[in-house]
Amino acid sequence: MIESGNNVIATDLKGNTQKSVQKFYKTYTYGCQMNENDTERLAGQLKSLGFAETDNNEQADVIIINTCCVRESAEKKIYGKIGELKRLKATNPNLLIVIAGCMAQKDREKLFKKASHIDLIIGTHNVHQFTELVTKLDKSRERVLAVWDQAERLAPNVPTIRKNKISAWVPIMYGCNNFCTYCIVPYVRGRERSRTVEDIIQEIDELSEQGFKEITLLGQNVNSYGKDADNQLDFADLLTKVDSLNTIERIRYMTSHPRDMTDKVIAAVKNSRNICEHFHLPIQSGSDTLLEKMNRGYNQSYYRDLVQKIRQAVPNSSLTTDIIVGFPGETEELFEETLALLKAVEFDAAYTFLYSQRSGTPAATMPDQIPLAVKKVRLNRLADIQNEISLAINKRLVGSTVEVLVEGESKNNAEKLMGRTRTNKIVLWDKTGDERIGQLVQVKISVAQTWLLKGQLV
Ligand code: SAH
Ligand code: SF4
Ligand code: F3S
Repeated sequence: MIESGNNVIATDLKGNTQKSVQKFYKTYTYGCQMNENDTERLAGQLKSLGFAETDNNEQADVIIINTCCVRESAEKKIYGKIGELKRLKATNPNLLIVIAGCMAQKDREKLFKKASHIDLIIGTHNVHQFTELVTKLDKSRERVLAVWDQAERLAPNVPTIRKNKISAWVPIMYGCNNFCTYCIVPYVRGRERSRTVEDIIQEIDELSEQGFKEITLLGQNVNSYGKDADNQLDFADLLTKVDSLNTIERIRYMTSHPRDMTDKVIAAVKNSRNICEHFHLPIQSGSDTLLEKMNRGYNQSYYRDLVQKIRQAVPNSSLTTDIIVGFPGETEELFEETLALLKAVEFDAAYTFLYSQRSGTPAATMPDQIPLAVKKVRLNRLADIQNEISLAINKRLVGSTVEVLVEGESKNNAEKLMGRTRTNKIVLWDKTGDERIGQLVQVKISVAQTWLLKGQLV
């Protein structure tokens, strides 16, 4: 096959040459790792249709916007991006614009009616139909709305194109049954469906053959793995099984619901060889009153006991969390309970969010919604405290040598390489000419900052 510009000259079996035009796609992904993985599966299907990736909007024949609706801020940004593409479509009528992801699921009618430049709206349960839908669209050019309300028990596997060649996402389950009262995810991702162990192991085997060094087992609530099917392994068994393959250096998983974090899972991490010593346990609030209103199913004393158990079992582990500020009914007093919890638990890092009203969720209509200005002040107060804690924890690492998986050049500094510790901390160090991307190296830490560590290759 000869490539010249956009033209591809291919020779068929009879020796005749045919001229076809290379087609390109571009993707935009918002939201969580599940969406990143869905983009890889959409791109994989385009690749099998002969498309290649481009960074250039003007060159693209298909543009996919894979959307998130977990907070209003994400939605606003995405509506802005969709608006921008209108001009592009006017100059290039052959361009196919595809909206995928959680907003496609939630706002399908509105998007279809109001944004006439969108050609295809594909729901979170329809990803596997993409090849068929694009082929049809290419012929008929008739706009399509392909959004199922419910998922098939298990969607068929489709080809995946992974941008990152070191670290891969492996979905182990889809959907969520928890219905935390603030959260839109169960409405746009459906009920919990676990993939079969065979499917998961097969994917991991392929990844190890391709040289991947790290995998992250993905699910909205990985601790529920297997509960929806008979004769399934539970999450702890799955972890142990994946670890025992001993083919992937680093195994991560997310997200764990604190309520469902069992002693068995903690033991599986403790007794494993390759499962990383990092626990991400979103607490959301340090107030029992709010935790109950959020329908989280635990209180803060349960959470603190859980942390103690984890730290006893896996002493050098890191602990991170998610916190929502300004949930309805959050008084100054209740907010201060969250600050007190942060100080008591000492997280390595906390991802903090302003509560966002999601229509259709119970919390959206709860009384005592908190004004935005109050939420912002609280978020800053919380961040100040957490930043101090994160820095103090990171400073303890100065002088020590840590194992780092080299990911590549630092995004902000071409002189430095970047990688992560097993505890998921970002480390930067000076290039020495020996890059060793994709390998494990030892770095001696000399500088600690709130969100990263700096050091020298040992
Ligand atoms: N399944 C995961 C991730 C859910 S979304 C989990 O249970 O942890 C990631 C984070 O977004 C949540 O942990 C929560 O902190 C935040 N979030 C979800 N809905 C939100 C909302 N309506 N407003 C603000 N933050 C929200
Ligand atoms: Fe949302 Fe709660 Fe499910 Fe996480 S566990 S996705 S926060 S409903
Ligand atoms: Fe967003 Fe959907 Fe993930 S709402 S956080 S992309 S599951």
